[in-house]
Amino acid sequence: MAQQVRGVIARSKGAPVELVTVVVPDPGPGEAVVRIQACGVCHTDLHYREGGINDEFPFLLGHEAAGVVESVGEGVDEVAPGDFVILNWRAVCGRCRACRRGRPWYCFATHNAKQKMTLTDGTELSPALGIGAFAEKTLVAAGQCTKVDPAASPAAAGLLGCGVMAGLGAAINTGGVGRGDSVAVIGCGGVGSAAVLGARLAGASRIIAVDVDARKLAAAQKLGATHTVDSSAADAVEAIRELTGGNGADVVIDAVGRPETYKQAFYARDLAGTVVLVGVPTPEMQLELPLLDVFGRGGALKSSWYGDCLPSRDFPMLIDLYLQGRLDLDAFVSETIPLDGVEQAFERMHKGEVLRSVVLF
Ligand SMILES: NC(=O)c1ccc[n+]([C@@H]2O[C@H](COP(=O)([O-])OP(=O)(O)OC[C@H]3O[C@@H](n4cnc5c(N)ncnc54)[C@H](O)[C@@H]3O)[C@@H](O)[C@H]2O)c1
Ligand SMILES: [Zn+2]
Ligand SMILES: [Zn+2]
Repeated sequence: MAQQVRGVIARSKGAPVELVTVVVPDPGPGEAVVRIQACGVCHTDLHYREGGINDEFPFLLGHEAAGVVESVGEGVDEVAPGDFVILNWRAVCGRCRACRRGRPWYCFATHNAKQKMTLTDGTELSPALGIGAFAEKTLVAAGQCTKVDPAASPAAAGLLGCGVMAGLGAAINTGGVGRGDSVAVIGCGGVGSAAVLGARLAGASRIIAVDVDARKLAAAQKLGATHTVDSSAADAVEAIRELTGGNGADVVIDAVGRPETYKQAFYARDLAGTVVLVGVPTPEMQLELPLLDVFGRGGALKSSWYGDCLPSRDFPMLIDLYLQGRLDLDAFVSETIPLDGVEQAFERMHKGEVLRSVVLF
């Protein structure tokens, strides 16, 4: 039987979020219902609320979550009731052209639940990134659940479901950072700080954190930045070059996603180095670069979607490293809040006061 739970929705563009009753159907074939234990507040939830993603209001917000599988539908064998899982927005299909080429982390046809969650009057909800986890329970495709060691704290584990994975993966997967590399990260919010941590995990010897906010630089230093640059006061490109023997860094990660930060990344990179764009630009942004510089500087200009992660490969491994004390996911949890605290958490995020606010259920 369908269940009624409390959940946070964005009813219309720009309006404050609301705590309402959500109807969650029983899982159908290939689906699972998950009891949410923790869900982080990500910039993308705010983008949905602002109408920046699409117009399919009302949205059931929340997508950086961990919880316990409550029930599964017909034909589900990858997870079972009682499993501790991290939810992901990349349930790979195994059949699209990316999957067929052996690159499932690009999957172009990822799975979501087929049935809809609704309001009590029957209005269909659009779950953020196909998840919708600012709710006591949510309905997802079973492939969106990745089983991990239940010894992990749900608040920390859930963060791997989006921003922290995007940052770690931008360094480790997309940037291919290796032992001894020099890395610069521009923008050290939740995503950029995770890129700093990823660079350290991958063995980078020099990790330069760049931000316009001193609080973010202090946090990045705790996560492994060897040098910091306040780009509100100093020229980021000059500073990064100075810190890398005049050459520029092997890998530069833009975790802001603006034309000016992308240009900094482009010119702060060593010859034949790699630029990774993980920050998400908005539709009106344009980039102009001398084509000769694009050619002459060589190397690779890459984008990182969700850190090019493969949840089934990466989540269990990263949780194991976390449990061994080698990956400080707890450092990203700035505060824990109740389900009715999401609107205030958006304000704190906007003011740059937190890496992550996490709703605990
Ligand atoms: N590629 C992906 O799959 C993926 C996944 C999640 C989030 N994101 C994107 O990553 C970006 C960062 O997300 P977040 O959660 O870390 O946001 P955030 O707001 O926590 O962090 C942004 C940081 O950039 C800094 N900043 C802003 N302008 C700057 C500038 N000109 N120079 C240097 N630093 C500057 C801010 O001070 C802040 O610390 C967003 O665009 C988000 O949408 C991408
Ligand atoms: Zn696919
Ligand atoms: Zn997110």
